[in-house]
Amino acid sequence: SETKMWGGRFAAKTAASVEDYTSSQQYDRALYAEDISGSIAHAHMMAKQGVLTAEEAETLVNGLNSVREEIESGVFVWKKELEDVHMNIEARLTEIVGPLGGKLHTGRSRNDQVALDFRLHVTRRMREWQHLLAHLVESIVARADENRSVILPGCTHMQPAQPVSLAHHLLAYAQMFRRDSERAADCEKRANVSPLGAAALAGTTYAFEPSAVAEELGMNGVFANSMDAVSDRDFVVEAVFTGSMVMAHLSRLCEEIILWSNPAFGFIKLPDAFATGSSIMPQKKNPDVAELMRGKTGRVYGALNTLMTLIKGLPLAYNRDMQEDKEPFFDADRTVRASVSIMADMMAELGFDAERMRAACARGYLNATELADYLASKGLPFRQAHHVTGNAVGYAEKQGKGLEDLTLEELREFSELIEADVFEALAYETAVARRETSGGTGPNSVSRQISDLREWLGQY
Ligand code: ARG
Repeated sequence: SETKMWGGRFAAKTAASVEDYTSSQQYDRALYAEDISGSIAHAHMMAKQGVLTAEEAETLVNGLNSVREEIESGVFVWKKELEDVHMNIEARLTEIVGPLGGKLHTGRSRNDQVALDFRLHVTRRMREWQHLLAHLVESIVARADENRSVILPGCTHMQPAQPVSLAHHLLAYAQMFRRDSERAADCEKRANVSPLGAAALAGTTYAFEPSAVAEELGMNGVFANSMDAVSDRDFVVEAVFTGSMVMAHLSRLCEEIILWSNPAFGFIKLPDAFATGSSIMPQKKNPDVAELMRGKTGRVYGALNTLMTLIKGLPLAYNRDMQEDKEPFFDADRTVRASVSIMADMMAELGFDAERMRAACARGYLNATELADYLASKGLPFRQAHHVTGNAVGYAEKQGKGLEDLTLEELREFSELIEADVFEALAYETAVARRETSGGTGPNSVSRQISDLREWLGQY
């Protein structure tokens, strides 16, 4: 068949259904910019090595730049029968520059070409993710900074545990997103390695200089093994794992936003711009953005599962199965970028209700640990102090009171060690203020966390 670049050994035409089934140009055209810069670097390197003349390389590079302009201005005609982005671009280049276009693919295979394009693309996205995540961290740190003196019940098992500052609670999320950003940076390092020169699988007989291509493209290095270079998709899996972790963290935050906006908690007011109403219940203000984000976590996990299943059991080296690596990445990338950026915007506008949070601290004996520590500080072994405090909680609960609402006389029924200074220890603000060990909820520890995060943000 004449129309196919690989048609030399074929006598009959490809079935139309097969053309549809095998075509990837409808989505891998997203790699056009990387494909063109990769080809330009390849042409430059071939001229340097004397495989092309300087004039030939210049003609090819000019042609490739024209193709880029055609694509960007929307006049480029994508053809399904040309399968993918690589052959669509090369075919158009050959129309523009003539038979010389056929020299571009010297010593190259689509196998190393697609790996290069996708590596460049994932690298670019991992850089964007780092910036988006840094922006989210910045937005959280700003809210933490404003809310240093607000306290709320910290929970374990979703039950009231000990009071913490709202700043501290929010900063826990800032730490998660900082780690995610670092994960994206780490993934970027391994993705940004050039496979060009691996050719189909075995390397090439031309005197090529893969490091010149890598250098022109701003990559960290070159492949060590040609078979690995064309068949490794670890970098995509790592990127989508990183995205899955981002979504896991977002969905935990979303869950808290959803709970906290329920009037039973009443800890936050959703900004109108980030909530929706009900078509039947006029009073409703629903946290749909947080719910959808929690839901979209599933599709990113799905992409990760697709990729892990895709690479399982593939023999060396390239297999066409690998073409299925792109859509899951593109979908996960779109979801992660939109989610991180919307969360940063929503975080900036969440209305925190400090009074409701403070009032909630008085329910659930969040200062019981303080009484036990108080008794321990007076010399009672902690296990005994725990038991005595438990008795006091049981008594207070029967009275429908908090520990701090009992009289000194009532408290002294449980231990003679209790004196008037107990009320200072039982204050919720004191419980927060006294936890100044490194990484604790105390105000100085929170200040240190904020300045450490701001220092880290300085690089973005
Ligand atoms: N579209 C293919 C992909 O995405 C490019 C490589 C095809 N190579 C081949 N020998 N069929 O994986």
